[in-house]
Amino acid sequence: MKSEIKISSILSCSALLILLSSGGVSCARAAASSQTDVSITRGPNGLTTVKEQSSLELPCVYQLPDVYRQSNSVILRWRKDNKTLRQWELGQVSGTNHEPQLETMVREDARIALNKETGSLHFGSVLASDAGVYQCQLLVEGQSPVSSGSGSLEVIEQLKFMPQPTSKNLELGSVSKVHCKAQGTPTPQVKWMRETQLPLPQNVSDHNGTLIFRGVSNEQRGQYTCVASNSQGQISATVAINVVVAPKFSVPPVGPIEVSEEDIAVMHCQATGEPKPTIRWDKDLTYLNENNTDPARFRLLENGTLEIRNVQAEDEGNYGCTIGSSAGLKREEVLLVVRSNKSASNSIVTRIIIVIICLAFLYFVLVLGLKLWYRYRRHMGKVQLEDGAHAAAIDGHEGDHHDHAEHEPCLTEANNSSKNLKSKLRESTILEQESQVADDIV
Ligand SMILES: *[C@@H]1O[C@H](CO)[C@@H](O)[C@H](O)[C@H]1NC(C)=O
Ligand SMILES: *[C@@H]1O[C@H](CO)[C@@H](O)[C@H](O)[C@H]1NC(C)=O
Ligand SMILES: *[C@@H]1O[C@H](CO)[C@@H](O)[C@H](O)[C@H]1NC(C)=O
Ligand SMILES: *[C@@H]1O[C@H](CO)[C@@H](O)[C@H](O)[C@H]1NC(C)=O
Ligand SMILES: *[C@@H]1O[C@H](CO)[C@@H](O)[C@H](O)[C@H]1NC(C)=O
Ligand SMILES: *[C@@H]1O[C@H](CO)[C@@H](O)[C@H](O)[C@H]1NC(C)=O
Repeated sequence: MKSEIKISSILSCSALLILLSSGGVSCARAAASSQTDVSITRGPNGLTTVKEQSSLELPCVYQLPDVYRQSNSVILRWRKDNKTLRQWELGQVSGTNHEPQLETMVREDARIALNKETGSLHFGSVLASDAGVYQCQLLVEGQSPVSSGSGSLEVIEQLKFMPQPTSKNLELGSVSKVHCKAQGTPTPQVKWMRETQLPLPQNVSDHNGTLIFRGVSNEQRGQYTCVASNSQGQISATVAINVVVAPKFSVPPVGPIEVSEEDIAVMHCQATGEPKPTIRWDKDLTYLNENNTDPARFRLLENGTLEIRNVQAEDEGNYGCTIGSSAGLKREEVLLVVRSNKSASNSIVTRIIIVIICLAFLYFVLVLGLKLWYRYRRHMGKVQLEDGAHAAAIDGHEGDHHDHAEHEPCLTEANNSSKNLKSKLRESTILEQESQVADDIV
């Protein structure tokens, strides 16, 4: 894919003479091949195979007459898989030490650099991802691009575990998998062994590097070795497989717990598991320790029970019990409510006093009412006797008045009752005085 650019032969000849002064290329020969003034003489080609992490230089040797550098914009570009990887504007070289004009890093990666002197592409440390098809190009303003041939880069990946297998805690009775993956060129074979040489135990199988435990049992506990191999060699990694039982509450804290001030609060918490879980208590998500609790009042018993003596109002809150081991963590919470004796007794006394006052008032009203009623009836009796004595002498007008008086106690309307009561009270005092006088006389 060599594109050729025609310029006047004189210009071409002089330019080539300047550029290739030591090359021993005659003007006549240049004129014969004529138009080959902008070209890439050596670029990436064929297949390059390198080991991962080694360094590499892909060449791009080009011819560019000075005349182009002076008058045109020229870009040197490296492409990988048809995408621009690095490019550099060559600019004017004519003696004047100009600042480098433009460097466009399409993908920032310090591992890969374009050598501005030679045009070659330099890899500090090759990675597997660098594999691909490379090509270098010269882009002269106003011309069609000049491209090198394309070269393939193949990276021999080092044999390695990816990721490194790690020790595992498997839950007793569960179905579990332990992975071992290896990378390398050519693709490695991966297999598991017990210890370093033994066959795998029953109910444990190896599927292309994945250990499968069907029903984890205590006998399966132990060391397992993963071996990866290819033509480069062999690597191995040994991991410990531990069989555990996740922590479980055998006695979870139950609540809410209500305790009186100065009384004792007891919160239980027990757990089972393999390895045996530890028990930690917290109050409102802050772990209780010797520094934030009063040791005279707070006691964590051997069996996990938390005891708080002489409970104070500020002890109220959510108490969490966390059970934990290498097999996991669990937390349960219980609410502690502190009842205040003082306010409770206060309220009882207040209630009793209120009840007594009410009863006394009711009694007073009842007694007064009865007394009034009695006096009233007595008075009415007297009046009726007097009226009876003068019955003949009195006309109908007096009779109306009596009817009204007799009906009065039957009035039941609420808004009238207080008024009536007041008037009755007034009446009663008069009546009382009258009856008193009457009694005295009797
Ligand atoms: C790059 O482009 C060429 C021609 O356009 C094509 O044949 C080739 O498959 C492309 N390569 C990639 C990696 O896309
Ligand atoms: C393998 O699994 C089967 C069924 O789950 C069980 O009966 C047997 O005891 C296991 N063998 C061993 C060695 O654990
Ligand atoms: C392992 O993988 C290969 C190809 O990746 C496949 O052909 C083979 O069946 C797999 N073996 C098992 C035991 O899964
Ligand atoms: C308690 O305080 C002491 C001294 O301030 C400190 O050394 C210790 O680690 C603390 N304990 C806890 C459980 O925070
Ligand atoms: C833990 O021990 C204390 C005293 O030894 C006892 O009162 C409490 O009931 C025990 N807790 C449980 C959950 O049995
Ligand atoms: C509060 O009541 C508990 C039991 O109900 C008792 O043990 C405690 O002494 C009481 N505290 C006060 C201050 O009366």
